[in-house]
Amino acid sequence: MDFKPLSLPPVITGIVRIVQHHGGRIFLVGGPVRDLLLNRVCPDWDIAIDLGEYQTRARLEDKLRHLLRQFCQKFNARFVFHPHFLTATLTLPEQQIDICHTREETYPRPALLPLVKPAPLERDLFRRDFTMNAIALELTARGTGALIDPCNGQQDIKLRLVRIIHPQSFIDDPTRIFRAIRFAVRLDYEIESGTLYLMRAAIKNGYPALLTPERILYEIRCILKERTALKMLEALIKEKVLQSAWQWQPSPEILSRLQLLQNQGADLPDLFAYLLASFPVTEKFSLTREERETRQALANFNAVKRKLRLAKRPSTIYHLLKNLPDRALRIAALIEPDTAIREKITYYLANLKNRPALVTASDLLRIGIKPGRKLGTILQKLFALQLDRTSYAGIRTTRKTKTRSVPERTAAGSSNEDEIRKELLGIARRLTRQKEKN
Ligand code: CTP
Repeated sequence: MDFKPLSLPPVITGIVRIVQHHGGRIFLVGGPVRDLLLNRVCPDWDIAIDLGEYQTRARLEDKLRHLLRQFCQKFNARFVFHPHFLTATLTLPEQQIDICHTREETYPRPALLPLVKPAPLERDLFRRDFTMNAIALELTARGTGALIDPCNGQQDIKLRLVRIIHPQSFIDDPTRIFRAIRFAVRLDYEIESGTLYLMRAAIKNGYPALLTPERILYEIRCILKERTALKMLEALIKEKVLQSAWQWQPSPEILSRLQLLQNQGADLPDLFAYLLASFPVTEKFSLTREERETRQALANFNAVKRKLRLAKRPSTIYHLLKNLPDRALRIAALIEPDTAIREKITYYLANLKNRPALVTASDLLRIGIKPGRKLGTILQKLFALQLDRTSYAGIRTTRKTKTRSVPERTAAGSSNEDEIRKELLGIARRLTRQKEKN
């Protein structure tokens, strides 16, 4: 197959020089070579280094560490090295480079991470996922400029096929099921018939369930970064991959809801949060705090909705929504079919959520209210009154109520803030006097 002459960025040329100086070989391998052949822009540079040191592991690790330090000195980079896997990530100010030593892998049990042993490039290529990802291009001077393609990846690229390299592939590493679907949809390729048969057998025999939730979520996050993410999710659901992993039954409208969210401009974390709300998440799922809270809020939103439907005052809306994460509210508003509820959520986000209090704790201290719980309660009461006085209270709560546009509401609210503040302070004084009498 032809490919455009490769122009290497200076950092890669620099790395090549250093490796060569140490008598090693260096290859571009996997995604970048595939994308080069496909004339696609490759977002990252995956490189494999072969230092020819296959016997003494400790010496190899030292040599690799030494090389990584040299790269860092030269390019003002940082590195993270995983000696177990013989991989490293080099982080430069503007890019990341994945580096591995050529190796072979053995899987102690299906779906466990592999044990890694250094090996020459040819063996390294045979341990990879698909033929199209098992092509290398040597960058060191002794390379001929020809592609190293022992698995006939170029032919499969021409045939537009995703094909595994050995029959145990999906069992060793069931994340490859997700990857097969991702590449097939991304490139509009078919999954080769033998590969498809083995993929479906692995799904049917429950191999996805052996993966940790973390690894599955990683694959889903990768999918959600793709332009055709929804098609990929559709294929994943159709092939029952997640059902096999988690005994999960997708709701019938899940894909159309995701599509709706995407059409309305939802971002990737929004889509992920919506999906999470329908997954059977357990403690084992490694989620960020925001993801966990958003998921929880979305999963329980029906109960809030019932109250929100009845809420007439801005202060009640505020009270119902104030503890829910913004992302959950944005998502709920985007997919909510009931206009009145949608309006209340949007109104809260635009007009209530960040409203500064007209009367603060120091105002109350100044008029002689003592610090403590009572002060807190009075403040809350005053804030609720403020919201109901300064906000446009005619949010559509019934069909009969007229609605005005949001800017009008805000203008109506801000004009008499001084008066409302005075009124609130008066109320505060009265409340304290009452309390003192009691
Ligand atoms: N790989 C593999 N099995 C996996 C994951 C990765 O064999 N489960 C190999 C493939 O050869 C792949 C390479 O490691 O090409 C790098 O992996 P990754 O960066 O995840 O994939 P890319 O092919 O670069 O794909 P993308 O374009 O999505 O970055």
